[in-house]
Amino acid sequence: MFSQKFSEIKEGYTFDDVLLKPIKSPIEPREADVSTKLSRHIRLGVPIVSSPMDTVTEDQMAIAMARYGAVGVIHRNMSTNEQIEMVKKVKKEETLIIRNVISVDPETPVNVARTIMITKNIAGLPVVSGGKLVGILTKRDLEFSDSSGKIRDIMTKNVITADENVSIEDAKYILYKNRIEKLPLVDKAGKLKGLITAKDIKTREKYPNASRDTNGQLMVGAAIGAYDIDRAINLEKAGADFVVIDTAHAHNCNVISSLKKIRKELSIDIIAGNIATAEAAEDLISAGVDGLRVGIGPGSICTTRIVAGVGVPQLTAISSVADVAVKHDIPVIADGGIRYSGDMVKALAAGASTVMLGSLLAGTEESPGVEMIINGRKYKSYRGMGSIGAIKAGKSDRYGKLGNNEFIAEGVEGSVPYRGHVSENLFQFVGGIKTGMGYIGAHNLDELRKNSVFIRITNNGLKESHPHDIRIVSEPPNYQNFNY
Ligand code: XMP
Repeated sequence: MFSQKFSEIKEGYTFDDVLLKPIKSPIEPREADVSTKLSRHIRLGVPIVSSPMDTVTEDQMAIAMARYGAVGVIHRNMSTNEQIEMVKKVKKEETLIIRNVISVDPETPVNVARTIMITKNIAGLPVVSGGKLVGILTKRDLEFSDSSGKIRDIMTKNVITADENVSIEDAKYILYKNRIEKLPLVDKAGKLKGLITAKDIKTREKYPNASRDTNGQLMVGAAIGAYDIDRAINLEKAGADFVVIDTAHAHNCNVISSLKKIRKELSIDIIAGNIATAEAAEDLISAGVDGLRVGIGPGSICTTRIVAGVGVPQLTAISSVADVAVKHDIPVIADGGIRYSGDMVKALAAGASTVMLGSLLAGTEESPGVEMIINGRKYKSYRGMGSIGAIKAGKSDRYGKLGNNEFIAEGVEGSVPYRGHVSENLFQFVGGIKTGMGYIGAHNLDELRKNSVFIRITNNGLKESHPHDIRIVSEPPNYQNFNY
């Protein structure tokens, strides 16, 4: 009986246990397409997600990730209002068509309009009477104008407008041809319906591959607790594109019944995790999830496997979940334990559609972690969300709440080397993934998942894989070694 537990024991694999076999390839790495699905309805150009941790993803990280074609999930170790403000910041960072246009009445005093333009930081103010656009007030109109006068006397009256359904290309042409900065959009009756600015079009062109919603705003996700229906509803209202039910063990009956309730309230995608087994995938998919987050204990700051004795080596966990998820067309996020771009290729080959990163992004400029200098080198703080510091600092119940003020830590606090900007790192990661796809002959991630073959390696094989018999004097941007 008991001995059977060991005679029938299964082996689990993780990143360092295997390599991918090279295969005759018809492609060059630069031709590889890394676009993917994050969840049932969300596509990304880059298969990378930043983790909802309080030393990894706040608004700045989410903006940087989305601009590169990836996406960030804002952590929940803060009040709902604080998290909502961060989501709004990301959504407002880039807008293609401003829908809630600030406008003024023609009878408005000039000094009031001037104050509105200064406080709201806007350079052109549409003037509306009875809902209809009758003029526009620009900074130029305000120059040398009498502050005690009315707007109607100084506004530009023959406003160049476009139909509310104008294409971006046409809007760009109209702005350029008329040398104007603002293009108000009106309906057939002349009512103001929106505004396109030259500045927003230029920003959009600067980041052509950004992850954007249908309004042209950057995409962003937000983490919620398993029972936090109100937070979920408010985040959707604030514009979050998806939520991530963020628990250490999502294969839990209470979590699943709460997930069903949240599903009824939201129309945006819901990703849930973490899980590590096929059975968990079946149950969460039946409860209505749109994406699955996989990883019990592989994270660099995790102590779950050591404290609780529970977990599944990450590649086995990913493949077990993916076997079920693929039948339902539900994408899998491989979360935790990724140290190199090669690990990303292995995670994607094992069945994941995206990888979630904590430590690899915690050292970037855009992370909220604290900077520190140790032995003359720059580091940033990084901690597990189940570490004592994170639990004490916040409202998170992801890990180890046993009673009111009692908790069992499942993570550690530390620091990671400073790594520059997110974009430089994503460039290296995507380059590594494409290089891997080149060796396997995969035009896209579907082909990587289907055609790749793993080979089991020994400890000697692993040793051989890392640089050896050399003292490294110059660290490349995509290789740092903590263990050798
Ligand atoms: P990496 O390896 O990218 O892992 O740093 C990030 C992931 O680790 C998970 N996480 C934790 N797991 N205790 C844990 O057992 C913790 O305190 C903890 N904090 C984060 C999480 O899934 C994250 O995305």
